[in-house]
Amino acid sequence: MLDFLSDELRRDPYPLFAQARSDFPVLHEPGSGMWLLFDYDSVKRALNDHESFSSAVETPTGRAPDWLVFSDPPRHSKLRAIVMRAFTPRSIASLEPRVRELSRGLLEPVLERGELDLVADYSAPLPMMVIAELLGIPVEDRQRFMHWAEVIMTLSYTISGGEEAAHAMSENAVVKEEMRAYFDDLAAQRRSAPKDDLLTRLVEAEVDGERLTPNEFLGFFQLLLSAGTETTTNLINNTLLCLLEHPDQLARLRAEPRLLPSAIEEVLRYRTPAQMVFRSTKVDVELHGQVIPAGKLVLVMVGSANRDATKFQDADRFDITRDPNPHIAFGHGIHFCLGAALSRLEGRVALADLLERLKGIQLASTEPWVPRKALNVLGPARLPLRFEPIRRNPQAGSQAPEKAV
Ligand code: HEM
Repeated sequence: MLDFLSDELRRDPYPLFAQARSDFPVLHEPGSGMWLLFDYDSVKRALNDHESFSSAVETPTGRAPDWLVFSDPPRHSKLRAIVMRAFTPRSIASLEPRVRELSRGLLEPVLERGELDLVADYSAPLPMMVIAELLGIPVEDRQRFMHWAEVIMTLSYTISGGEEAAHAMSENAVVKEEMRAYFDDLAAQRRSAPKDDLLTRLVEAEVDGERLTPNEFLGFFQLLLSAGTETTTNLINNTLLCLLEHPDQLARLRAEPRLLPSAIEEVLRYRTPAQMVFRSTKVDVELHGQVIPAGKLVLVMVGSANRDATKFQDADRFDITRDPNPHIAFGHGIHFCLGAALSRLEGRVALADLLERLKGIQLASTEPWVPRKALNVLGPARLPLRFEPIRRNPQAGSQAPEKAV
């Protein structure tokens, strides 16, 4: 079997993806019985064709959790419509000043140090705090949130089966009960005293007279905690990695900050944070002359599709001015990422702040980075960085930083 789970391949799967796209774009892995799709057209078809590909997948350790992202129409349509009532573009856009404040609050304590672990000090806590903010949850509870999110992300081990998968499942069962108690309590509070937050909107949202059941309500928070944090953490980490590996692009971005949004899009393509999603075939599906029989688990390799040279010119070149850039890092079709606008906003704020405040950034270690725990994502578990420390002015007695030296 191809060892997709080795550290080396998880750090840089792209040479293997290139070989796969040219030699076996649709691969049957006999050991596990899974099928893998590597090329852009097959990946997009699997994302788009929900008549043939189901999201209610079964992994080697059992059925995927009962969440929006793992549901099919008509249930998916109902859940998504309810959630969309709460997750409005206005509610996302209005978060920008607060995201900026949270970002500055995280960077402030490290400015004098001249070094940070981007992951622990910044890219992991920021999305967590933003989700807490969006939901209307006290920021003090964020350590608990971090723990829950981490445990939920270990669910990705269910694709590997075996002991680790069984452990992930039992840890998740415990966390689910903790979360149930926590969210039942919050939902009751919002029912009696509504606030202007996502929780209240979710408690109240109704489509065709139907509301979320308590289980659906809990499932949505579990999904938000995992989908909304780990992926954005990796977007921020991967942005720094890409720019530090391509100093010409970093220099260009510093000179032309208007390129920031397209730089983020290019990172999403070039080092796609969520590398794969799951589907199962509802019927026999023919792709590239091969028939995937009905009822098979399919790994849809979004990360590989985003490097397909038939869709992207110079696909292996990191180019912050790339246009057009039809990447599918947020998926496609009915399950298109609900948090795309939010993570783009976070990515932009983070990158602008990091570039503005950390001068002379460089990697602090030459060791190859260790991949993150969750198996379906691409990015480092730690990212030590060095930069020019900011000297404070002791005479002024103020906390205001002086210009970077
Ligand atoms: C860089 C950051 C992100 C990436 C790369 C990403 C990627 C994706 C992808 C590929 C899907 C499609 C899954 C599928 O088709 O099976 C998806 C769905 C989803 N994402 Fe994201 N996501 C990101 C951030 C977020 C954030 C910040 C949130 C929430 C705050 C979020 C919430 C969701 C939800 C709820 C779905 C399920 C939608 C549905 O099934 O209808 N994501 N995401």
